Amino acid sequence: MDQPSALRFPDGFRWGTATSAYQVEGAAREDGRGPSIWDTFSQTPGRIRDGSTGDAGADHYHRYKEDVALMKALGTKAYRFSIAWPRLFPDGTGALNPKGLAFYDRLVDELLAAGIEPYATLYHWDLPQALQDKGGWQARDTALAFGDYAAEVARRLTDRVRHVFTLNEMLTFVEHGYESGVFAPGLKLEPAALHQVRHHAVLAHGLAVQAVRAQGRSGTEIGPAENMMIALPAVETPAHVRAAEAATREMNAPYLTVMLEGRYTDAYLAEAGAAAPKFTARDLEIIASPVDFVGLNVYTPGHYVLASEAEPGWAVVPMPASYPRMASDWLTIGPESLYWAPRHAARLWGVKDIYITENGTSAADRPGPDGVVYDIDRVMYLRNYLTQLQRATAEGVPVRGYFLWSLLDNFEWADGYATRFGLVHVDYATQRRTPKLSASFYREVVARNAVV
Ligand code: FCB
Repeated sequence: MDQPSALRFPDGFRWGTATSAYQVEGAAREDGRGPSIWDTFSQTPGRIRDGSTGDAGADHYHRYKEDVALMKALGTKAYRFSIAWPRLFPDGTGALNPKGLAFYDRLVDELLAAGIEPYATLYHWDLPQALQDKGGWQARDTALAFGDYAAEVARRLTDRVRHVFTLNEMLTFVEHGYESGVFAPGLKLEPAALHQVRHHAVLAHGLAVQAVRAQGRSGTEIGPAENMMIALPAVETPAHVRAAEAATREMNAPYLTVMLEGRYTDAYLAEAGAAAPKFTARDLEIIASPVDFVGLNVYTPGHYVLASEAEPGWAVVPMPASYPRMASDWLTIGPESLYWAPRHAARLWGVKDIYITENGTSAADRPGPDGVVYDIDRVMYLRNYLTQLQRATAEGVPVRGYFLWSLLDNFEWADGYATRFGLVHVDYATQRRTPKLSASFYREVVARNAVV
């Protein structure tokens, strides 16, 4: 017997891998690229666990041909990468740097020649430092500058790039960069300033949607790539499922909920009180500009919730200390999050096209004597998560594709290079690439369009 038909994905399901500019490109000072807040942050002692920076990354800037060949060997037909804003506009605004754009021209052409569809993210956290110096996301002007940058990308690349994501994980870069300060730019803002940063992020998203519609080739599709806070029903009964949906809507109030509903929830505004963001009705219209799809980055189950008699009708179950995790301490294991995340988005907001824009795991990943990493823990993680994604598609939840994070080991933000997320191992001393066991697993999934 070959594959049980129950574990097959719909025909035409798009399988891909994902990376981001600062994490893989390297070449931080080449061809006129300006500094970003991640350059500044990683050069500040004590910010990155192993004291590293993204200066070299996985040297993808020079090795992109080899990396496209790796994607081809996996059989993937889609690739999600991000464009470094400071490569195109070294100071964030002003004149386009043609050499910076030329890299993405080369990459896109190489992908298309290999039969791989490019999916470009406009912002994966590498804000030009020059804009940070003028207030960064605390300044409304940054959102306007983002709209201008998006318009230029649309003019230059949408003849070949048909799918564009606006901002990657607003929730993560805002909460980690401006509240806890563990990510660039390392700030710890008071509530009013923090709420305004959140508002500027969603405003930037809306402005980019409008810019790409106005300047892109017709048929260009655009949407966010957000790490939705996922409330899971602690037990799958109708009452707990309803509670989980309500909790998901509320937990995402300043991000997906306002983007897809065009208003901040009453509970969010009441909770913020005097610190609530300042906004106009026009802002809300921009923020809720219609999108073509919603991208969801899914790693952890987030929160398990129960139906409750008391307001608001749901209660969060505290995570037990014994709950299982992967190599990153934040990465709790909850395969069913890959079922519930798209299902909640479809039910709550009527989203008709969903991509899983990231999913994957870190692992300790030591090469064996033959140089190969036998990462059976990553295979276990992926098999379990993909089984739940298949359950979603089998029930008609409209998931169109899946981008595994990540193609390559890379610079994992404040964790540096010690934390590895790749299907392909990178020896940073030589930049040699060696596919792990999980790459063989994923190649089979892609080839059979089914969980194996
Ligand atoms: C996500 C980020 C991505 C990567 C993974 C592990 O939050 O979007 O860049 O770091 O986590």
